[in-house]
Amino acid sequence: MSAQFINLFYLAAAVLFILGLKGLSHPRTAVRGNLLGSSGMLLAIVVTLLDRRIVSFEVIVAGLVVGAFIGATMAYRARMTSMPQVVAIFNGFGGGASALAVGAALQEALKGGFVEEIDFQFTLSAAAVALIGAVSFTGSGIAFGKLQRLVKERPILLPGRHVINVALLVICLGLSAWLVAEPTSSLSFWVLCGVAALLGIMLVIPIGGADMPVVISLLNAYSGIAAAGHGWVLNNSVLIIAGSLVGAAGFILTALMCRAMNRSLPNIIFAGVGAVVATEAESEDIYAGRVKAASPEEVAMLLDSARRVVIAPGYGMAVAQAQYAVQDLANLLESRGVEVEFAIHPVAGRMPGHMNVLLAEANVPYEKLKEMDVINPTFRQTDVVLVIGANDVVNPLARKTDPSIPIAGMPILNVDEARSVVIIKRSLGPGFAGIPNPLFAADKSLMLFGDAKEMAMQLVAALKQT
Ligand code: TAP
Repeated sequence: MSAQFINLFYLAAAVLFILGLKGLSHPRTAVRGNLLGSSGMLLAIVVTLLDRRIVSFEVIVAGLVVGAFIGATMAYRARMTSMPQVVAIFNGFGGGASALAVGAALQEALKGGFVEEIDFQFTLSAAAVALIGAVSFTGSGIAFGKLQRLVKERPILLPGRHVINVALLVICLGLSAWLVAEPTSSLSFWVLCGVAALLGIMLVIPIGGADMPVVISLLNAYSGIAAAGHGWVLNNSVLIIAGSLVGAAGFILTALMCRAMNRSLPNIIFAGVGAVVATEAESEDIYAGRVKAASPEEVAMLLDSARRVVIAPGYGMAVAQAQYAVQDLANLLESRGVEVEFAIHPVAGRMPGHMNVLLAEANVPYEKLKEMDVINPTFRQTDVVLVIGANDVVNPLARKTDPSIPIAGMPILNVDEARSVVIIKRSLGPGFAGIPNPLFAADKSLMLFGDAKEMAMQLVAALKQT
């Protein structure tokens, strides 16, 4: 196939990627967007396979079979609650694959004696891919380990870590300069990959709990940039476009999440926030004698007399897979003339849009889901807020400015402004940020202890009896 034809198909694939991304920006068009994006990727792969310069089909088919088997098994077995880890590890594989593929291109050019192909664009891009790809590979691995609880979730703050990181970065830049100046050996490239891999570990290990979503989205952006760099090395326009789109989307999502958590990116990356976690004694100070437990029947009576109820879901709803039972409860309340809305915090759960996905799965109408900025002014006119498996996103401690509080400054759902608050969770245990929540001990709060799905079902049963 001629180069013009290939580029024409690549252009069509790029248009499909852009339309796909546009579709993904709204829940109603997301499925179509996903299909458009995947069709673009299929087109790009098929056209690349028809290009003469590829390696043998046997190798490609073998790679496809092994990769598809591992990917499909992981995706099939992963529970909805483990999706952030899966996203993190896939980002890492993307970055790592770009670094390895560029290394292979360098080796091939050196072995085949095509040293003239290794020009400034090649070496500079190769150095960038080695640095960014290796950082995103090991950084994502650590993020995966933290979310999967294989690595200590709390920040690990090594003494002198900033000096070590700066030293590692300087070494990386030195090795990059060596690769550009002396492209006749690949040693500098592979050493650069190794040092950058260490830097990736060092950069993510001090980041803890509440800041992990931002890190994953940043690493996602890095893996996109690595793919774009890979495109520059191979002079492949579709890789440059796809990588840049992933990179830009990742950076935009990172900026949006930083805004949602009221944190600056440098603060998240360098400050090691979340380092100070409340002790049991501090939790005891907040809760002692003030927490009131209620039964499903008592809460059903409260709900039955309400005119407006807001449901604030969080990570616990995902763990319990309570979305269907919660939707049944909302339907029952509405059938009795109660106005019901859902309050969606931008970082509720463990991944962007987590609550939207779960509630859409249970067919909750999209219009009922209200973003934090829209719902917050309405809590004063709300009779009952039902907090279902949420903790950090409704924690009033976030309003404090004390930097030792990991979520200080994070905007929250102001559920404590409603007339009554009912919190469904299994214990007084903390959320992701590891701190106690004074909302559980507030005068207007009632705790309904138990599994979210079980409690929602019991509420439905009790309401039917009233
Ligand atoms: P969390 O603060 O993590 O609290 C979840 C609560 O759910 C826990 O306190 C737990 O209490 C309860 N729970 C767990 N299993 C339950 C079950 N089966 N039934 C009932 N309750 C259950 O959740 P959140 O309020 O959604 O806040 C999200 C946090 O995660 C934020 O700190 C956020 O920054 C962070 N984070 C967010 C993301 C994204 S992008 N959304 C990604 C990573 C991290 P019990 O154990 O007592 O039941």
